[in-house]
This record gives sequence, C-alpha cells and structure tokens, in this order.
Amino acid sequence: MKRVKLIDLPKIKDHRGNLSFFENSNQIPFDIKRTYWIHDVPGGAFRGGHAFMKSHEFIIALSGSFDVVLKDGELNKTISLNRSYHGLYVPNLIWRTLENFSTNSLVLIVSSIEFDDNDYIRDFKQFQKLKNEI
Ligand code: TYD
Repeated sequence: MKRVKLIDLPKIKDHRGNLSFFENSNQIPFDIKRTYWIHDVPGGAFRGGHAFMKSHEFIIALSGSFDVVLKDGELNKTISLNRSYHGLYVPNLIWRTLENFSTNSLVLIVSSIEFDDNDYIRDFKQFQKLKNEI
C-alpha cells in the first residue's frame, strides 16, 4: 500500500480557465501506453473490482468525484478523488474498485501497458493467494 501515491499535478492558474498536465515519467512514475476514460456512470454503479499483474495506472477525476477503494491483501484504504489536478498512482498487484460516483463524473485513467485481458486478476481469493505467495 506504501507504493500507492496521491500526486499533485501542476496547475497553471489563468483567468481564462486553469490548466493542468502530466507527462511520461515526469509527474507520474511510468511511461503511458494507453488512455481510457469512464463516463455516463449511472447512480449506484461501481467499476473495477480487480487487480493487475503488471500494469500500473494513474487515475484522475477530470470531473465530479468518486472513491477509489484499494486493498493490498493486508490493508484497505479509500481515497476520494474530486479535483482534476490530483491523480492517484495505483501500482500493479493492488485490488481496486471505483465507487460512489457523483453525477456527471468523468474518470481518466492512463496505463503502463496496452490492453491485455490476461493482466487482470478478477478473483479476490486468487489475488489474496498470490499476495500470500509473494
Ligand atoms: P474493465 O477494465 O473490466 O472495466 P472496469 O474495471 O472499469 O469495470 O473493462 C470493461 C470492458 O472493456 C472489458 O470487456 C474490456 C474492455 N476494455 C478494453 O477493450 N480496453 C481497455 O483499455 C479497457 C480498460 C477495457
């Protein structure tokens, strides 16, 4: 869980509207291979509920708010994201669920690998077994 990090992104204040950004390996600790976003989330829904073998992710609430629930097999932690200039670094082998979405929330996620279904661990018991073995 110590590897999880809330990262403050640059915020260029401007009366025309503020601007934030992140770059490969500068603000975030990996090179970006993929970007995806989650939108139009209906009330009460949750996303995720899995861990990744290899991939690292960086998660931002571009709009609205939601909670990221993290489990490393021993500790649990919930981090609320509600600012577009804060991002959450989630390394591999952390179980993560996104929940408690506000209306019109927009989740931006960048990943260290291209999509690979084999990188998912979708069974929590299997995840815990793997963590115990490491
Ligand atoms: P999934 O990662 O399971 O969604 P979540 O964890 O947010 O609940 O992905 C849902 C579906 O979308 C699944 O069929 C795989 C597909 N998908 C892609 O094709 N490419 C991607 O980059 C992602 C993240 C998902």
